[in-house]
This record gives sequence, structure tokens and C-alpha cells, in this order.
Amino acid sequence: MSRHALSVRSLTVEFATARGQARAVDEVSFDLVPGERLGLVGESGSGKTTTALSLLRLIRPPGRIVGGEIRIAGADVLAASPEELRRMRAARIALVPQGAMSALNPVLTCGAQFEDLFAAHGERGGAARIAALLASVGLEPQVAGFFPHQLSGGMKQRVCIALAVALRPSVIVADEPTSALDVIVQRQVLRTLVKAQKEAGAAIVMVGHDMGLMAQFAHRIGVMYAGRLVEIAPVRDIFADPRHPYTRALIESLPDLERRGEFRGLSGLPPSLLDLPPGCAFAPRCPRVVERCRVERPGPTLLAGGREARCHFAAEPVHAG
Ligand SMILES: Nc1ncnc2c1ncn2[C@@H]1O[C@H](COP(=O)(O)OP(=O)(O)OP(=O)(O)O)[C@@H](O)[C@H]1O
Ligand code: SF4
Ligand SMILES: [Mg+2]
Repeated sequence: MSRHALSVRSLTVEFATARGQARAVDEVSFDLVPGERLGLVGESGSGKTTTALSLLRLIRPPGRIVGGEIRIAGADVLAASPEELRRMRAARIALVPQGAMSALNPVLTCGAQFEDLFAAHGERGGAARIAALLASVGLEPQVAGFFPHQLSGGMKQRVCIALAVALRPSVIVADEPTSALDVIVQRQVLRTLVKAQKEAGAAIVMVGHDMGLMAQFAHRIGVMYAGRLVEIAPVRDIFADPRHPYTRALIESLPDLERRGEFRGLSGLPPSLLDLPPGCAFAPRCPRVVERCRVERPGPTLLAGGREARCHFAAEPVHAG
């Protein structure tokens, strides 16, 4: 049995478009140990959702996983038969999808949705089991009798979390689990997710835009840019000493009381996936760019503490821009 809850190697996903193949996920690799929380951040279109959905093999045409390996507690996801895959989903790896609140079935009570899940996996449900799951996300047992439209956004999101942990999966994938909620509820829901994840003993891949919010809940942060995982490191290291200029730009774009009013965001736009620069994809926006960057694609540089960054200069700290 693998010591990793999740192991991803050179995952590559492409979308067929009228203008050619768009590589939305480009040789992404990372491992999670049981109980570990990884936050995946990056600009819109950087490949976070595509990476997240690939972990459950939920990519639909025109998208296709064209290469790599995904293992959940050692089990090979990409080699699984349709029946094995059906059993794996929810039981080994569960999804809290982007816009999860609309993922609940509007014509079934919450309790019926739990019962359906248990029945699909040959497990016994029952009011007591459902009540315990609802309690684990801070909801009263009566919620089992409610239809989704009778619940607030935050409550619906908690039900989605309870459904995700119901079968005690090894891995939970949560795609922007709080983006539709107000700031106070966001924090409550994230705390609930972490508590449920800990109780289930699951590892979690949490996708989000807000690096500040993510930093409070994740053990490690992975930064995506143009389909590539450009940096992955423990939260403390990534904030204290980012090794990729894009990571530094993301950190500098966070609001800072001492620099009130002064927004130090990143100029320019991410490149089109159909027209990537030949070397480093970040070169057109990078304050540190040199000629080599425009011709030679940086591979991963392994750093102390299991950190990794894809920049030719990752071995040296990035100085403030
Ligand atoms: N159905 C599709 N057809 C064609 N291209 C797609 C499709 N879905 C995604 N893509 C491409 O894949 C890339 C990555 O998209 P993805 O949804 O993974 O980004 P994301 O990082 O989750 O963005 P966001 O923060 O907006 O949710 C995008 O640039 C997009 O062009
Ligand atoms: S490889 Fe060059 S362009 Fe790319 S991030 Fe590093 S310094 Fe910037
Ligand atoms: Mg997304």
C-alpha cells in the first residue's frame, strides 16, 4: 500500500478546439500524504478546475487526459474500469464541485440524497448515520427532511461537504468551495470542511483564488500558471520566501494594511494556451526575465524541505519587485 493518499505524475490534459489542442494541464505532479491539505491557486484559466476534475476522471470531451498517472492510496485511477471508477468516486475520492450549491438535486430532500449515495455504494444509511454526518458539519438532524431550496447558501454548502465525506474517502477535492458565499460564511464553511476532512482522515485538494484565505487552511500551496504547477511549498515557506516570480506577484497583490491604497498587482494577461511562448510561459510578464527564459522551458527545481519551483533561478530567493 502506498504511503501517499494521492499521487499525481506528469498529468496532462488537452482540450480540442477549432484552433488546435489547448493544453490546460501540462505535466503536473504532486503527492499528498493522508490528512494533508493542499491549496491550489492561480489566475482564472490556469487549469485548477481541470486538474481537480481529472483526479476523478471527470473531464468531458472536448477535453481528454492525454498523459500521466493518478493513484489514490495506490489504486490506479486512469487504468480503472468504468465499474471500478464508479466505486472509487465518493468511496475513495469525493468532489465538492465548483458551484456546489447547484450540485444538490432540487427534487430530493437532503436525507434522500444521502440514502441514494449509500445505496449506490451498497451501504446501509438510516436516520442516525445521516444525523451524525449533518452534525459533523454543524447542521441539525431536521435538515435531512429539507429540500435544497429551503436552505441558505452556507447550509447547502455544508450538506455538500457532508455528502463528500459520507463514505470516508481517502481524498476530497473541493473546487472553490466557498466562492459564492459572503466572507464570514466563507470562513465558517472552510472551518467545517477542515473539521470534516480531519474526522474522515482524508487528504484534500482545495482550489481557490484567494491565496490569503487558502493560507489559513492549507498545509501546502500549489501555484498554477498556464496549466503548469510553477511552485509547490509549505504555506510558511511560500509566503516567507517564494521562489517563483509569479508566486511573489500573487503574494504582493494581497491587500496589506501598511500599503493601504497601493495595489501592487501583476500587469498583463496570462498567455493563450494555443499560443504559449516557447520557453517559460511567464516570460512576457516576468520582472526577472532574461534571454534564456524565452527559449528554454524551466524544469522543476527541487529545493530543501520538499519544495519545488519551475523557474531557471528557483535556487535563489526572488527579491521584491
Ligand atoms: N470545455 C472546454 N473547452 C475548451 N477549453 C476549455 C474547456 N474547459 C476548460 N478549457 C480551457 O482550459 C483552461 C483551464 O480551465 P480551468 O477551468 O481548469 O481553469 P481554472 O483555473 O479553474 O479557472 P477559474 O479560476 O476561472 O475557475 C482554460 O484556459 C480554458 O480555456
Ligand atoms: S524562468 Fe525566467 S521568465 Fe520564467 S519565471 Fe523564471 S525568471 Fe521569470
Ligand atoms: Mg475553476
